[in-house]
Amino acid sequence: MPEIDAMDSVNAIKVSIVGGAGYVGLVTGIGLAEVGHQVTCVDICADKIEKLKRGSSPISEPGLEGLLQKNMGAGRLSFTSDLEKGIPPAEIVFIAVGTPAKDDGAADLSQVIQVTEDLVRHLQGYTVIAIKSTVPVGTVELVESILRRHKREGEEFDIVSNPEFLREGYGLYDFFHPDRIVIGARSERARQLMHELYEPIIYRTVKGVYDDAADARDPVPVIDTDLASAQMIKYASNAFLAARISFINEIAALCERVGADIKEVAKGMGYDPRIGRTYLDAGLGFGGPCLEKDLRALIKIAENNHCPVSLLRAVLERNEQQVREVIAKVKQLAGYLLYKKIITVFGLTFKANTSDIRNSLSLRVIEQLDHEGALVRAYDPVALCEVRSLHPELVLSEDPYEALIHADVLVILTDWPQFLELDYARIKQLMASPCIVDARNLLDPAEMRAYGFRYCSIGRAGV
Ligand code: UDX
Repeated sequence: MPEIDAMDSVNAIKVSIVGGAGYVGLVTGIGLAEVGHQVTCVDICADKIEKLKRGSSPISEPGLEGLLQKNMGAGRLSFTSDLEKGIPPAEIVFIAVGTPAKDDGAADLSQVIQVTEDLVRHLQGYTVIAIKSTVPVGTVELVESILRRHKREGEEFDIVSNPEFLREGYGLYDFFHPDRIVIGARSERARQLMHELYEPIIYRTVKGVYDDAADARDPVPVIDTDLASAQMIKYASNAFLAARISFINEIAALCERVGADIKEVAKGMGYDPRIGRTYLDAGLGFGGPCLEKDLRALIKIAENNHCPVSLLRAVLERNEQQVREVIAKVKQLAGYLLYKKIITVFGLTFKANTSDIRNSLSLRVIEQLDHEGALVRAYDPVALCEVRSLHPELVLSEDPYEALIHADVLVILTDWPQFLELDYARIKQLMASPCIVDARNLLDPAEMRAYGFRYCSIGRAGV
């Protein structure tokens, strides 16, 4: 991320972000401070707030810590765990707390409800309450009714739905280069304030950010819409992305049967502008904290509204099947019985360039291998600490080569570019039998076979 200078000319708006030490809240807070607004991040997690006050980020995201320190130093960004200090005199209060999945897949709104009840006592003058958290249609109205019930005499507020589309590992990039900004609102006054807030982003005037060809582009599209549509845009986008992945994984399975190569097929499809090439990488399926959770929540919303959604259910089922298909490939190479076989797993995060292991499909694969009696060892270039604290039972290795000594099968589960740099001739010598299941299509099949590996990937000719 290049060095950025805050806008001198921006009309600084006072913003508070509740849930401001979480991923979405923190990236949004730092981004808004960077464009010149006056931001306070409020979070119940005192440990994270203390860390942030020392200028240290609790999440690893390229460029984030630099901008954190810069904006704190410039007096535009502060942190507190005390709502009473953090809310007034904000003109816009973002709610960016988590909405984890309940057992039945529905979004758990307890944090959203709790912070709404807590923050209302501290509002001063006219305030826009902007919901960033991904919430089902109807939640905004619920928040509004809580605010109305508890608000003090003379206080005025409006509600806005302003969903985020940040990808982990690219959070700041996505903040400064959004494909679109969605603003769901009933009130013109609130809508105008939100436009003012995002003006430097919309017109791409943040210094230092648009050094590439991007600065020649048109303004960022702003979708001014109603509250319900804004919330649905977020769910429908994530469900569509999930559907692309399930679709390409299903086509990959078919490619294996008919001798086609999924990489060639995705490339050929991607030239059609109606389809596009991104988000068509066959692999282990979609993991992480958002896609599956939001898809399940959308299915629950449909159930609650008596709307059949067989396609959405199939997207989810296909993703679950993908883990089983990878296990089947490991069995095929290991001679079908996994009992006491040494299986080395590379990659524990849900995708490359993050240390996040939430809802990582790698952990599901490991659980399944363990269930089959395999002796699993795991290596990851960044997430060993996270995994060790949450799964102390796993055998982890700090060194990829050490993890492979006498291994029967190597299974690659995350597309870390570091795995491309390894010495595969040495790996072959270390393993008991030279077998690789590449569940991310990271390596070159011909090269691996030339080294003498039995090599299996997704949607390409096997073994
Ligand atoms: C996603 C959305 O992209 C973002 O817009 C939303 O706000 C939050 O959820 P993120 O969870 O960070 O972002 O990950 P993303 O990069 O979208 O990948 C999700 C999962 O899909 C990963 O497990 C990834 O490995 C997998 N994936 C992605 C594929 O298997 N194939 C692809 O072609 C793309």
